[in-house]
Amino acid sequence: MNTASHDTVRALEWRDEGLYLLDQRLLPGQEQYVCCTDAAAVAQAITDMVVRGAPAIGVAAGYGAALAGAAAWRTHGAGWQAGMAEDMDTLRRSRPTAVNLAWALARMETCASRLPEDEDPASALLAEAHAIHAEDVAANQRMGRSGAGLIQPGSGVLTHCNTGSLATGGLGTALGVIRTAWADGRIERVFADETRPWLQGARLTAWELAADGIPVELLADGAAAALMRTGQVHWAIVGADRIAANGDVANKIGTYAVALAARQHGVRFMVVAPTSTIDPETATGEQIPIETRDAREVLYAGGQRVAPKAEGVGAWNPVFDVTPAELVDVIVTERGVVHQPDADGMARLLEGAG
Ligand code: MRU
Repeated sequence: MNTASHDTVRALEWRDEGLYLLDQRLLPGQEQYVCCTDAAAVAQAITDMVVRGAPAIGVAAGYGAALAGAAAWRTHGAGWQAGMAEDMDTLRRSRPTAVNLAWALARMETCASRLPEDEDPASALLAEAHAIHAEDVAANQRMGRSGAGLIQPGSGVLTHCNTGSLATGGLGTALGVIRTAWADGRIERVFADETRPWLQGARLTAWELAADGIPVELLADGAAAALMRTGQVHWAIVGADRIAANGDVANKIGTYAVALAARQHGVRFMVVAPTSTIDPETATGEQIPIETRDAREVLYAGGQRVAPKAEGVGAWNPVFDVTPAELVDVIVTERGVVHQPDADGMARLLEGAG
């Protein structure tokens, strides 16, 4: 049994002054917090990737909505419910793919709609945002435990992007499983794709694992298939930004390639996500909106231009892709696991039959 601390990093923290976010654009070089005191600042922080990762975006949006309600009461008094609508739209538009954002905002709106019009909603909305945060922490723990139980002792695992404490309220999703399985002594080696272009794997996952004393070997994304061919990886374990009703999974660009290579090489493919990431309104992955970001994220690396500055040199930069459900061996959620996911299995999970 390993005795590392396994969970030492916090991406978001509510304090009296507002929402403190660890600025993930600066990691691993600098640990600096940004304090957001209004909803617009939270939305901008989400768009700019100060905070990122589907569950963390949802938690941040919850606090953003609480700030919106408090500001609307100060400005509009009894008209606060209508008064917060614009801020809610700004938050909703901050990033398109992770459904946890819309899920958290819908939950905050339901909470707001049940509050009296003539009372300051600040403390009730803040309590709801804290509940979303606390539930994510608890979901991480449950997923960590059930996902780890699927991993045979002596396994090698490969992960993609960052799905740890920086991407959630707590232990992480895929990285929560890896942390738990490592603590159980089930995992022998952890491999992490560097995750171009934003380098979530190299900058964030390696930083989190190092803080917990868990050794990690980074690889260029293009090396994943070759690694799997060597037989050193038994599970590819990833998170998700949105899971469609049929089990198709949107996650960080490159995940689909990992899933294809995993199937080819007999490596099992696990997706770990809270049920707030499942979108029953989206029938298949085809309908999931995929965010495209600035071409400069690809044309530059570490602030230096790596592509020639020449006419006709551009970039295609979708930041998520969709892995079809048939390539997924198991989806692990806090409410149970779905093996070989399809529409029936996902519906049973959401109905509570797991
Ligand atoms: O663009 P990002 O860094 O927000 O993308 C994050 C991912 O794709 C993660 O894998 C996903 O949100 C799951 S995090 C628990």
